Amino acid sequence: MLDFMRELLKVDTGREQTNFENVGVFLHYARKYNLYPEFLTISGGVNEPEFEAEGRTLIQFGANNYMSLSEEPAVKAAAIRAIEEYGIGPGGSRLMSGNIAIIEEVEGRIAALTGMEDCLTFPTGYMANVTVFQTVMNPVMGRLPYRSQDGVIFIDELVHGSAADGCRLSGVRTVKFKHNDLEDLRAKLRENEELTNKLIVTEGVYCLEGEIIDIPAYVEVAREHEAKLMVDDAHAIGVLGARGGGSPDHHGCADGIDILMGCMDKAMGGTGGYLCGKKDLIDLLRAAANSSVLSSALPCSMAGAMIAAIEIIQQARDRREDLARKSRYLRQGLQHLGLTVLGPDYIPSVPLFVGDEALGVAFAAGLRDRGIFCPVMRWPAVPLGKARLRLSLMVRHEQRHLDALIAACGEVGRELGVAIG
Ligand SMILES: Cc1ncc(COP(=O)(O)O)c(C=O)c1O
Repeated sequence: MLDFMRELLKVDTGREQTNFENVGVFLHYARKYNLYPEFLTISGGVNEPEFEAEGRTLIQFGANNYMSLSEEPAVKAAAIRAIEEYGIGPGGSRLMSGNIAIIEEVEGRIAALTGMEDCLTFPTGYMANVTVFQTVMNPVMGRLPYRSQDGVIFIDELVHGSAADGCRLSGVRTVKFKHNDLEDLRAKLRENEELTNKLIVTEGVYCLEGEIIDIPAYVEVAREHEAKLMVDDAHAIGVLGARGGGSPDHHGCADGIDILMGCMDKAMGGTGGYLCGKKDLIDLLRAAANSSVLSSALPCSMAGAMIAAIEIIQQARDRREDLARKSRYLRQGLQHLGLTVLGPDYIPSVPLFVGDEALGVAFAAGLRDRGIFCPVMRWPAVPLGKARLRLSLMVRHEQRHLDALIAACGEVGRELGVAIG
């Protein structure tokens, strides 16, 4: 990255550049340093274990469709029924064109699934995260007399970019703590003890680190320091907890979480985001969150589909166990080859560490030559020099898919000098 920035800054055409010239320069260096992502066009089998692209069949290890609900007949049928009943679009923002019964219903179902009191949905998780900080850290919310300097957000340094964007947009001072380091968090809270409006932000599952976070420990720290706690549970909903209710269900700690954020495009198989919390807080968001007030609601087809997905998730203990078993098998298979798999937990996202960006790109290309698709996660999604392949598992992956992946990783790893075994 440093080389990338250095080269960018060195560029001197001897005259002032227009923005568009800078775009070209940026693209040139992003490509030169292997930071520009490749966009694969899929023509069939979207979200399925095998899909069509570039005139051939590839095995999918990049999709977040953990529970294989995206193509589940009952979920698709529910989406079609909702279109027939409610039409294609929500008609605008809920404030302008009215609340729609099926959207309120899915919100009630998400609240019940997670064990939280109330819920508000958005068309994407990104929209939920960019709006929440601005709304809840607003000076009106703090103890009066209140100044915006009295608010501070403590975020884990590896929190998703959408939450980091939301913090920036709020204009509230944001302090990063070391990833999942409670002592560092405590020290930073102590430095800001006198402030009245403190919010701690972490994720329930870090999919790029292969980790389930001990959320009850954060609940305790938040209580010790009179701070509020927000958990981005995008990768936990559906796969953690006996009922699939994510971190609050898995750890039995719904009471200690003030804001639970989640996404519907991972285990739930659809698209959309949500914020859950106490009824008053969600009422505030209903009236004041810009992503809801100034933007269209979730499409009704998605609300219908997600109600059906939740019904399956609640009963799908066998699917969760299957994913954990596959995760263990894949981790052990890769480790046996001498490859580095990050994190200790058996979650359906298995991060295979490569390091160098160019090596990551070559690794993904090698897998693709062998009929396997998995994108490389690299800066800015992860720090520079820490590229990794995020191998995503789905319920519908078969044993032969896993074995093909492990064999291909072994071959590519040896070819590139990544594997030791
Ligand atoms: C942890 C986390 N939070 C939020 C988001 C944003 O969600 P969405 O894709 O629904 O916009 C993502 C997306 O991948 C995510 O991984």
